[in-house]
Amino acid sequence: MLRIKSIDTYYGHVHAIKDISLEIKSGEFVTLIGANGAGKSTLLKSIIGLQPVSNGEIEFLGQRIEANSSDSIIRQGISIVPEGRRVFPDFTVAENLAVSARARRSSTAEMKSDIEKVLIQFPKLKERWKQKAGTMSGGEQQMVAIGRALMGRPKLLLLDEPSLGLAPLIVAELMVKLKEIHAAGTTILLVEQNVTLALKIAQRGYLMETGEIIATDTTENLLSSDVIRKAYLGMEE
Ligand SMILES: Nc1ncnc2c1ncn2[C@@H]1O[C@H](COP(=O)(O)OP(=O)(O)O)[C@@H](O)[C@H]1O
Ligand SMILES: [Mg+2]
Repeated sequence: MLRIKSIDTYYGHVHAIKDISLEIKSGEFVTLIGANGAGKSTLLKSIIGLQPVSNGEIEFLGQRIEANSSDSIIRQGISIVPEGRRVFPDFTVAENLAVSARARRSSTAEMKSDIEKVLIQFPKLKERWKQKAGTMSGGEQQMVAIGRALMGRPKLLLLDEPSLGLAPLIVAELMVKLKEIHAAGTTILLVEQNVTLALKIAQRGYLMETGEIIATDTTENLLSSDVIRKAYLGMEE
């Protein structure tokens, strides 16, 4: 579904993504883990066209997308739940979802049917329909952010550290939701700083360090690998 071939991304002189290649097959649940500053967010931004790549190729469903605008990539079927959620705080839940539908140039009928699907996934949002997103709890805002990303029914959903700052119980609920979204047919690339959590929920993982992929395997193998156990799970040899 997604094939990244040897991409590089720079912020001025900062070489944030160094010759990264990565593949996601249709129906997979993949995680991208790594320390702060490794380049995880930059990789997601490069995929969705928010940060230009300086060379290499990104192919989505057989089409080259690395030169496309973010809007067109979203319309082609990739959605992102950005770091820090970033809902529109002064907009109601309804308005937050409508903004997404407009950005996708959905028709009124498409928007209605997308909203219905999102509300089936997140029934709690129905109760908060007219509430301003900024007055909701972190977990509820995350639902709005995910709901917004699901408008237009993306084939590939990118999530950037959705568990950050949420209480453990809320994180557990969120992970159940992600599993449901995946089971319903959406391919997922989950970026997480919570390595244990990410490796438990995903099927396959990539480990990034200073702009490079340094390991990739099934999550089962990664969980028992030395590099993960020592560096991320705090286990001694
Ligand atoms: N807007 C920016 N301008 C300059 N450097 C940036 C910018 N955003 C990120 N970086 C740098 O790029 C590297 C990767 O950052 P990022 O992708 O945010 O990492 P992660 O998401 O893994 O924490 C870091 O060295 C960071 O300082
Ligand atoms: Mg990040």
